[in-house]
Amino acid sequence: MARSSVLLCVAAAAAVQALNKRQSFNQSIPPTITLNGSTIENPTAYATPFVLNVEDMWDLLVGPVASAVTTTTVQATPVPSSSLIPPPPLYYSPFPSGAQYPMEVKNESWSFPKDFWWGVAGAAWQVEGAVKADGRGPSVWDVLAHRVTDFEYGNGTADITDNHYYLYKEDIARIAALGVKAYSFSISWSRIMPFGRGPVNQLAIDHYNDVINTCLEYNVIPMATLYHWDTPLALQDTYGGWLSENIVNDFVAYAKVCYAAFGDRVDHWFTVNEPSVFCSQYPLPAMYFKNFTIPNIQQPFYCGQHVLLAHSQAYRLGKSMMANSTIAWKANGGYKIPLTNSSEDAEAVQRAWDFTEGWWSDPIYLTGDYNAAVKAFVSTFLRPFTAGEKAAILGSADIYAHDAYTYVTPLRSLAKEPPRASASVPSATLSELD
Ligand SMILES: *[C@@H]1O[C@H](CO)[C@@H](O)[C@H](O)[C@H]1NC(C)=O
Ligand SMILES: *[C@@H]1O[C@H](CO)[C@@H](O)[C@H](O)[C@H]1NC(C)=O
Ligand SMILES: *[C@@H]1O[C@H](CO)[C@@H](O)[C@H](O)[C@H]1NC(C)=O
Ligand SMILES: *[C@@H]1O[C@H](CO)[C@@H](O)[C@H](O)[C@H]1NC(C)=O
Ligand SMILES: *[C@@H]1O[C@H](CO)[C@@H](O)[C@H](O)[C@H]1NC(C)=O
Ligand SMILES: *[C@@H]1O[C@H](CO)[C@@H](O)[C@H](O)[C@H]1NC(C)=O
Ligand SMILES: *[C@@H]1O[C@H](CO)[C@@H](O)[C@H](O)[C@H]1NC(C)=O
Repeated sequence: MARSSVLLCVAAAAAVQALNKRQSFNQSIPPTITLNGSTIENPTAYATPFVLNVEDMWDLLVGPVASAVTTTTVQATPVPSSSLIPPPPLYYSPFPSGAQYPMEVKNESWSFPKDFWWGVAGAAWQVEGAVKADGRGPSVWDVLAHRVTDFEYGNGTADITDNHYYLYKEDIARIAALGVKAYSFSISWSRIMPFGRGPVNQLAIDHYNDVINTCLEYNVIPMATLYHWDTPLALQDTYGGWLSENIVNDFVAYAKVCYAAFGDRVDHWFTVNEPSVFCSQYPLPAMYFKNFTIPNIQQPFYCGQHVLLAHSQAYRLGKSMMANSTIAWKANGGYKIPLTNSSEDAEAVQRAWDFTEGWWSDPIYLTGDYNAAVKAFVSTFLRPFTAGEKAAILGSADIYAHDAYTYVTPLRSLAKEPPRASASVPSATLSELD
């Protein structure tokens, strides 16, 4: 589906704005405007529905993108024999045998428990590159990187990054050669569904099928994350992405496509990665996406509410479709330590837990609803969950997954470091600091 035959309807006025690099879909067109005291009717022709295909979305809303030299995949990517060296032992003694007894006893700490899943992780947008290849639709990140000055360090984009979309066979061979047991990758929603909903892109299904098959060929356990922050642009511009409850059905429909396509070989699934990061990115920068009237401070919590609904429904669906699946969401954060022994600081630490890990962990693992601190805040503007929703949320994870970050350097100086996009480095580190 290099050029999609299914089109997205928008208002003509939006396309005009897009051409002016101030894009926004389907803005409501006021029926009249007042000029110099006179009421003037808007010509109805100005609001005639207008269609954009995937190519138009890139051209109008993102702009030119770079492409890598390597542009073949699935069939043709060779695995160099130099990638296929046997894994090294996990421990090399740096000392002559018997000479340094104290080092020898430290051996014990170099092995994992037998059933420990030891792995590496990648995030689609951060490692794949090939952003326009094979019918992929843009995500919000393509706009943020291409259009928003200095949003990424040095105005960097993900147009090429690690070129993993083309080099995955080599990457997976090397993962295996290192002795790594699991590869946790994320699936690009807007590759599978270029508009976030509607038509499914078979070339994307083929691609991830081969990623999974290559993992299995090398005895690397494939683990899939459905969403690692790369909201399809069309959904952001149609209804505000995670700000709207509309995303719940669209996310579950996308999850269903992935489970149906890959669930015969992938048992380990993560629905959403680190919602406290991507929800805290709302509001997105003004001028680049459809505007919303939700107050800025509330936007992350609208997102959080829809994450709980989308995650829990996608979890229930996945369990019904895949008998042996392990499904969870992925939390992130870091240990919180009181500055002093005062009771105020103890309360502050608890509040920090409540508004980070606890924002989703309390509903999912303990109660089906927000903890008291979050509830007190959100109940003034979010609707309460229904009894059925609470029942679906409670217990909607088979494991507790957590990306733990511990900072020893003052945040300001860390934030100046360049971003690192790599299949082996936890991806949230910098964005969390922003
Ligand atoms: C555009 O917005 C109007 C009013 O909110 C809505 O009725 C219509 O369905 C929208 N069209 C599209 C294509 O989203
Ligand atoms: C605005 O209205 C005033 C008074 O009716 C008129 O003199 C003036 O020329 C108008 N200006 C424009 C820009 O139409
Ligand atoms: C440490 O590891 C080396 C290499 O695998 C092994 O020869 C040695 O016996 C180990 N020592 C201990 C104390 O386990
Ligand atoms: C990013 O782009 C803007 C606009 O073109 C430019 O002013 C700025 O210097 C760039 N930043 C870097 C670090 O190159
Ligand atoms: C969106 O809001 C920003 C400021 O908040 C404003 O500058 C911009 O013109 C608005 N865009 C549209 C399409 O209304
Ligand atoms: C689930 O696991 C059991 C035990 O390993 C196995 O017998 C069964 O075939 C698996 N079912 C599916 C659908 O993979
Ligand atoms: C907190 O209390 C413990 C035990 O009473 C004490 O050892 C510690 O120094 C105190 N820490 C601070 C930061 O006051």
